[in-house]
Amino acid sequence: MNTDMTGRVALVTGAGSGIGRASARKFASNGAKVVVTDLSAKSAAETVALITEDGGTAIAYQLDVSDHDQVEAAVAFAVETYGSLDFAHNNAGMSGRPYLLENVPLEAWNQVVSVNLNGIFYCLKYELAQMNKQGHGAIVNTASTAGLGGTPLMGAYSATKHGVVGLTKTAAIDYAAKGIRVNVMAPGTTATPMLDALIGTSEEQKASFESSSPMNRLGTVDELGAAAVWLCSDEAGYITGQALAVDGGLSAMMGAGSGEEG
Ligand SMILES: NC(=O)c1ccc[n+]([C@@H]2O[C@H](COP(=O)([O-])OP(=O)(O)OC[C@H]3O[C@@H](n4cnc5c(N)ncnc54)[C@H](O)[C@@H]3O)[C@@H](O)[C@H]2O)c1
Repeated sequence: MNTDMTGRVALVTGAGSGIGRASARKFASNGAKVVVTDLSAKSAAETVALITEDGGTAIAYQLDVSDHDQVEAAVAFAVETYGSLDFAHNNAGMSGRPYLLENVPLEAWNQVVSVNLNGIFYCLKYELAQMNKQGHGAIVNTASTAGLGGTPLMGAYSATKHGVVGLTKTAAIDYAAKGIRVNVMAPGTTATPMLDALIGTSEEQKASFESSSPMNRLGTVDELGAAAVWLCSDEAGYITGQALAVDGGLSAMMGAGSGEEG
């Protein structure tokens, strides 16, 4: 049993940046052919260039996960291009802005739900159909520690990430006997452009995120990408339906979601 993925095919969403870029690179360095999808065609192409420089195989595909038809087409593209779909990392997401619930604009609520929850559902729908035809596959979704506990001022984000955990567990049970595993990774606060956008240049805010982790530091994209790819690998062959917190110990404390907004 090992993490060799030679000849197999992975699709990653939100792979133009942060955690998704790191997991796409890790899938490729394990030997998989990777369909690198992102809302930004330019960012996806940059990830493909990094993979190619490292000697890996990847192709870029522009995809907005909140668009049902685009997701269906992306899964079909992966199968047409590389012949199968063995792994998927459904990772694209957005944090939204912090609001007291009574002040959340409907448009902001709907946007976070469309990307973070509908997007994961659309991906699962078409990936599971393909993997069911093949009789095998492994999927990891990206949630957050905000999907394991309430998160101050981040109601839409926390609700959607809890939803991703529920969808994952249900998919895992429904497909366990069909040779398909589905898990969810819950990152703690991780140093990515999404976090930068949320905290801006505030060193104080950054220090507060760092000190809220028992390890007194942020997670790195490589640590998160490696965990996602390992969950898809054969080494995790008896693991399904699990929410793996990759959070430096944050969720082991009482009030798992507090202090985490990414
Ligand atoms: N960074 C953190 O602290 C943290 C913590 C917990 C969970 N997460 C989750 O990790 C995942 C990745 O976040 P990140 O921190 O790497 O962020 P990031 O901003 O670095 O990357 C997110 C990528 O997703 C893409 N994207 C956004 N909306 C999209 C859409 N509608 N369709 C397709 N692609 C889209 C963006 O273009 C971007 O390339 C997200 O689901 C996020 O909620 C992040």
